Amino acid sequence: MRVHVADHPLITHKLTYLRDKRTDSPTFRRLAEELVTLLAYEATRDVRVEPYEIETPVAPTTGIKLSNPKPLIVPILRAGLGMLEGMVRLLPSAEVGFLGMQRNEETLEAITYANRLPDDLSGRQCYVLDPMLATGGTLAMSIQYLVERGADDITAVTLLAAPEGIKYVEDELAGLDIPVHLVTGAIDEKLNEKGYIVPGLGDAGDRLYGVV
Ligand code: URA
Repeated sequence: MRVHVADHPLITHKLTYLRDKRTDSPTFRRLAEELVTLLAYEATRDVRVEPYEIETPVAPTTGIKLSNPKPLIVPILRAGLGMLEGMVRLLPSAEVGFLGMQRNEETLEAITYANRLPDDLSGRQCYVLDPMLATGGTLAMSIQYLVERGADDITAVTLLAAPEGIKYVEDELAGLDIPVHLVTGAIDEKLNEKGYIVPGLGDAGDRLYGVV
């Protein structure tokens, strides 16, 4: 997996306010959206494009446009929804699918509790949104799920990542022969015993949407 830490003062500045426990939900949502737009700029560096002929008022020229099939943005429920607007702002013509994944803690099997995706993802570039790459379990399962349906180029976008989670995803996906990238705002120190990223920002879903 190619890992890219989007190291930019504006990203670190916004992350600082997201991390601050005094930041309220409305501010957290706005900052998360702004941050994702900056991350999306990095994440779409390899988005597929094709030549596009146009005429300026002065002369014909060749530009580019997004290729078909259009990229698919897949927020992982629930916290990934808080990243959707920021991503769509930069890629308005992308399609959006939804994926809710949970691990059955007894059998450790992946359960897909929500799925609204095209059946056939052949030839699709997919952008998976999940704010916190913590243990890596959900992200690895989600990527495998998309690959089984034909996705052939996957970029995960996260606000924060833990080293343990990155290693877990890399180990789980070791046999895949398609490109998988991670673009993240920062790689933090570690996971604590409860699976929270340290220093992290707490529970991203709760901070976005409240404790429900
Ligand atoms: N999920 C979160 O929302 N926060 C963490 O720190 C870890 C997983």
